[in-house]
Amino acid sequence: MTKVLSLINMKGGVGKTTLAMQLAHSAAAKKLRTLAVDLDPQSNLSQALMGPRDYVKHLAAKNPTVVQIFDEYVPTDSRSGSPRLLDITEVVVKGAGHGANGMLDLIPSRLELSRTLKNPHGKERRLAKALTQVRNDYDLIIIDCAPTESVLTDAAYFASRYVIVPIKPEFMATIGLPLLARSLYEFRLENEDHEIEISGLAFNHSSSYSAGPEGQQSIEDVTAEANKHGWHIFENQIRYSASYAKSAREGTPLSWTSYARTDVIQGFRRFADEVFEQIGLAKVSA
Ligand SMILES: Nc1ncnc2c1ncn2[C@@H]1O[C@H](COP(=O)(O)OP(=O)(O)OP(=O)(O)O)[C@@H](O)[C@H]1O
Ligand SMILES: [Mg+2]
Repeated sequence: MTKVLSLINMKGGVGKTTLAMQLAHSAAAKKLRTLAVDLDPQSNLSQALMGPRDYVKHLAAKNPTVVQIFDEYVPTDSRSGSPRLLDITEVVVKGAGHGANGMLDLIPSRLELSRTLKNPHGKERRLAKALTQVRNDYDLIIIDCAPTESVLTDAAYFASRYVIVPIKPEFMATIGLPLLARSLYEFRLENEDHEIEISGLAFNHSSSYSAGPEGQQSIEDVTAEANKHGWHIFENQIRYSASYAKSAREGTPLSWTSYARTDVIQGFRRFADEVFEQIGLAKVSA
């Protein structure tokens, strides 16, 4: 059964895209058929999984992106005489992710996705609907979300069963959590038949000082907030390493780089295994 997982935090810069990229690679390395979906107009995940050069080529060729899923059609171009209905397989970039052995596909984004935000009416379910057409091709679908709450957040809720909330342990780390709790509560009220749950909060030490006293304090604050809502916190924290940024910039998974330290790679692997186990994907062997 396909598992669909979204990375959500209304706070920006906490590691949603970084974790989406590395989790997608970890899943593919375990021979799980994986689809990554970039649901952020900033398109950082698309660049990290296609590599900056191929991503720019993709845009220049006017290939369809997640934007067309929300528009539900492909516009006319120099070859076609009229717009046509979208076939979602056109939007899927096969074999994305350097070194992913063909197990990792991507639905890329582009800046024009912000148009969807301007005209959101009736678009909340379009991603979920489109994914039903390809879900049987995948064991895991990972959706990377933008930091602000919008129709795109609702689209992620409709498409997913599981949510992971990356947290940067720093001053004001809890700021997005009440917002997320309210947003999920309202979604559940309006969509009682749709099961969605927070799989866990993931502490991501994305700055070097977050392991200090400020970090410790914020871990306590976040833990208190999580307990209030009954949210699980992943045991394995993701440690600070400059190699995360470099690996994303180069479009290479951590474990394929020459510079990421073994303990950093192993630390992320433990986190990924914990996530996969939490959502019921643990039985697949590496
Ligand atoms: N564990 C880590 N160690 C070091 N740097 C990290 C780590 N995790 C993330 N970063 C860096 O922190 C920055 C923010 O990470 P990322 O883009 O993944 O956050 P985000 O939540 O997706 O941001 P946004 O809300 O803008 O989409 C990036 O430069 C990334 O490379
Ligand atoms: Mg991001």
